[in-house]
Amino acid sequence: MSAEVIDGRQVATEVVETVKEATANLIDTTGIVPGIAVVIVGEDPASQVYVRSKGKKATECGFHSETFTMPEDTSEADLLKQVEALNADPKIHCILVQLPLPGHIDEDKVIQAIAPEKDVDGFHYINVGKLGTGAIAEAFVPCTPAGSMVLIERALGTRDLSGLNAVVVGRSNIVGKPMFNLLLAGNATVTVAHSRTKNLPELAATADILVAAVGRPEMIKGDWVKPGACVIDVGINRIDAPEKGEGKTKLVGDVDYQEAAKTAGSITPVPGGVGPMTIAMLMANTLAAACREAGVEPPHY
Ligand code: GUN
Repeated sequence: MSAEVIDGRQVATEVVETVKEATANLIDTTGIVPGIAVVIVGEDPASQVYVRSKGKKATECGFHSETFTMPEDTSEADLLKQVEALNADPKIHCILVQLPLPGHIDEDKVIQAIAPEKDVDGFHYINVGKLGTGAIAEAFVPCTPAGSMVLIERALGTRDLSGLNAVVVGRSNIVGKPMFNLLLAGNATVTVAHSRTKNLPELAATADILVAAVGRPEMIKGDWVKPGACVIDVGINRIDAPEKGEGKTKLVGDVDYQEAAKTAGSITPVPGGVGPMTIAMLMANTLAAACREAGVEPPHY
């Protein structure tokens, strides 16, 4: 293996440390305490784990943190009322409604009901538009692509990606499209590939920065990777692992890590790469919202 392994856990720890220090400073100088509300509807076990860890991390950062657990049969109207109450609550700077929502609730309607200045996920059309027009300092940027960007900048040692080719595999609203906008804002030349793209291996092999966000285990093969490329694997897929024993499973990314690491210059592992950055950037976004209220510059990461 020749690639530098990008340690997402370590970078996430550093981001959270910066958030903690800046939060303490903000509270000292302005009295403003960043506040985050997380709303979960139903009892999906994976979502409950995520929500608990978000609440814990927010408290660790020194934030005011509230979690609202609503029953599976909550009506769309009641959820919208909860969002409106949080929109009007001055203690709350950021609102996160955990997805997926139960099938009888229109997710988009709920997301668009969140005040754009509290939309910590960056899913509201206003934030999508700000990111797309380059008004990034005023936007909330979705946490996973924001975290991926921090890893890319640290791995390459620069925020200026001029002259570099980036290929993003996957065109989701949550990762692929915002990743495209962030890389473009960093001056990379960006191509977004997806399930209808022809000659994906050849295209991927042109990438100095290759971002995989398709949700298909180990789809990106080692020989698709340009020598020296920075490979960011956003995928988290659970697959059977008979080699670990009967009925055992393991987590893998969208990239065939063992093979790709022979060619890449730097690569994120799964787990321990992009994953830990998502929650760290949620904390960073919450602090940024409070800083906006205070008219204070938020930290850079
Ligand atoms: N469920 C899984 N990931 C996310 C996320 O980034 N934001 C929200 N709101 N829900 C999620």
